[in-house]
Amino acid sequence: MVESYSKNANHNMRRPVVKEEIVEFLRQRQKQVTGSLKELENFARKENIPIIPHETVAYFRFLMETIQPKNILEIGTAIGFSALLMAQHAPNAKIKTIDRNPEMISFAKENFAKFDSRKQITLLEGDAVDILSTLTGTYDFVFMDSAKSKYIVFLPEILKHLEVGGVVVLDDVFQGGDIAKDIMEVRRGQRTIYRGLQRLFEATLDNPGLTASLIPLGDGILMLRKNQAEVELPDID
Ligand SMILES: C[S@@+](CC[C@H](N)C(=O)[O-])C[C@H]1O[C@@H](n2cnc3c(N)ncnc32)[C@H](O)[C@@H]1O
Repeated sequence: MVESYSKNANHNMRRPVVKEEIVEFLRQRQKQVTGSLKELENFARKENIPIIPHETVAYFRFLMETIQPKNILEIGTAIGFSALLMAQHAPNAKIKTIDRNPEMISFAKENFAKFDSRKQITLLEGDAVDILSTLTGTYDFVFMDSAKSKYIVFLPEILKHLEVGGVVVLDDVFQGGDIAKDIMEVRRGQRTIYRGLQRLFEATLDNPGLTASLIPLGDGILMLRKNQAEVELPDID
């Protein structure tokens, strides 16, 4: 068993925010992954590693083929499944992906060595808090799939490196539906994440420098488009 994730981890992944039969339909009816991606998907599901669910896979396939990004940044590699998916469907993209968990890093390295056939992916090892401040270059697509309470902390640095017209996708922003509730109805252990996500929404949803869209895929996705060179984020404490 993979040490990093217990059977009780990913609690919110088992609290679908859309009717279960619709989720099942999205997962069963949309084209399945094959080959190396199927192998990694099966491994992740068996070991309870929280990779993107199939409805998000289908959406990413569509996004990659439509946008054809050139420089992708990902925060949260895990075993490398989403990075390899993006590489497959955006064959001209260079991808930098960040993770801090040594066990995940070791799986990701192995998987990139075996399956990143065009050598598109660079793995950056360490905490995104440290790595983001040393990051160079610009990106036209960013996928944030790490600790949810930190999205609002990472966002200013991400926006600095995002090209105008670039897109940020932030995964798992609905907290299994808790996000729509009053904080007093949210379990105590979940309130830091809840506050972090509420701050994220306050900073982005009505921000004139961004176009934002919330999509009920998986545990919820927030999509942001950067509309101008300088995007002001309010100081929210
Ligand atoms: C949900 S998994 C990523 C799944 C992957 N994107 C996929 O769909 O195949 C989240 C990963 O983010 C990493 N992570 C969480 N917070 C982080 C941080 N502050 N810096 C770097 N990695 C982080 C965890 O170690 C974990 O491997």
